[in-house]
Amino acid sequence: MRRTRSLIILAFIVSSLLIFFFSTMRLETSTSPARRSEALQTQPTQQLHGSDAITPQQSTAAPRPPPVSVSDRLLKTISLNGAYWSRVMYMALKNVQERNPSSPDCDWSRCKEIKTELLQINVHDFNTYSALFRDFLQGMSCRLPPILIDQPNKCISGEGNGTNHTFLLFAIKSTAASFERRQALRETWGREGLYDGGLRVQIVFLLGSSSSLDDPDLNSMLSFEAQRHRDILQWDFHESFFNLTLKMNSFLQWALDNCPDVSFVFSGDDDVFVNFPALLRYLQALEPSKASQLYAGQIITSASPISDPKNKYYIPLSFYDGPYPAYAGGGGFILSGALLRPLYAVSQVVPFFPIDDVYTGMCVMALGVSPEAHDGFRTFDIREEHRENLCITKNLIMIHQRSPQQIKRLWVGISNRLLKC
Ligand SMILES: *[C@@H]1O[C@H](CO)[C@@H](O)[C@H](O)[C@H]1NC(C)=O
Ligand SMILES: *[C@@H]1O[C@H](CO)[C@@H](O)[C@H](O)[C@H]1NC(C)=O
Ligand SMILES: *[C@@H]1O[C@H](CO)[C@@H](O)[C@H](O)[C@H]1NC(C)=O
Repeated sequence: MRRTRSLIILAFIVSSLLIFFFSTMRLETSTSPARRSEALQTQPTQQLHGSDAITPQQSTAAPRPPPVSVSDRLLKTISLNGAYWSRVMYMALKNVQERNPSSPDCDWSRCKEIKTELLQINVHDFNTYSALFRDFLQGMSCRLPPILIDQPNKCISGEGNGTNHTFLLFAIKSTAASFERRQALRETWGREGLYDGGLRVQIVFLLGSSSSLDDPDLNSMLSFEAQRHRDILQWDFHESFFNLTLKMNSFLQWALDNCPDVSFVFSGDDDVFVNFPALLRYLQALEPSKASQLYAGQIITSASPISDPKNKYYIPLSFYDGPYPAYAGGGGFILSGALLRPLYAVSQVVPFFPIDDVYTGMCVMALGVSPEAHDGFRTFDIREEHRENLCITKNLIMIHQRSPQQIKRLWVGISNRLLKC
């Protein structure tokens, strides 16, 4: 009897100690505003600089330790400075290095609980940020939104003897109301099927949800479309420009679960024209070493944040201060399937950035992979007098931007066997 009681007391003491230990660990990042700002302002340890890459050893206790390492190139491009983003990144790196289980996959329902006062302490002019930007900061650690419309069989072959290998997956950013654009792609360059003697090509459209307050309710049409075409993915987050990074991240996670063997992903907008035969030729001609490390498109080098508050791409200096890494214009670029897993892993350390293609560039740089500039990708379109010119179009891989009608006309035009260029 007495022994049982002392055992209970012992268990009580041990668990209180454990609770105390873990709660002090969490204090740094979430509970106390003072402690958080302190943590954010801490200088990173010396090891952060100089070493070629930061490769934390894998903890044996954790079930799925992310093998994250960040290249020296990213750390050189984005140094630790007073801007919020950089402080959050260096803190995440430090946590990874010290193997703190700082749950990167934060609970979707609770992730927006980050207190406004906390942000006001860490960002001195937070109150001057636009409502949208404040909202972005509030939800910066929100990941893994619930999926509303899924396509779990997308990359499983329906045919009896087909393999489950998808050669190319088009991942197209779209919005609920863009029915016509999606249909134009299905009828032209985005048509699913087996090409060139067995290369499987598939398409998914990536959608957020629209607010029922402002927009007409398109849900029943969307679910009809999803059943009819089986190419709609929709997540439960508000559709907005600043949420495109979340959209890309959600797609990466989906692709790892559902199309892990895909050779290439084309990520792009629903208003681009893709010269599909030229794209296929380009991908097939790649050297194997290049094919497994590909991040190709129109590469934007030496860009920096726009400082005009009226610009769509405006980034406050107190949020991000420094150049952007070279990145592929988000209208359309190619990623190797082999990069999906490392990219997703590194996105646990690199904090979300409100411009999705810049964010992808940051993550690719964190992997130490160099972007591949390709002249056939024209995310800023071509000269106006060339836009109807089929021979010029035929020599390019993608052009931004075109209406559904223009896409059909160009497609019929370049597919015409009589076209002599
Ligand atoms: C099975 O494979 C053969 C040879 O590759 C092909 O001709 C045939 O069409 C395939 N059948 C199905 C149902 O996919
Ligand atoms: C493709 O995947 C399905 C479902 O996972 C499986 O039943 C089938 O055997 C796979 N086919 C091949 C050729 O691996
Ligand atoms: C992103 O989506 C979340 C979830 O719907 C929403 O709470 C948040 O306001 C959105 N962020 C922006 C910047 O639109």
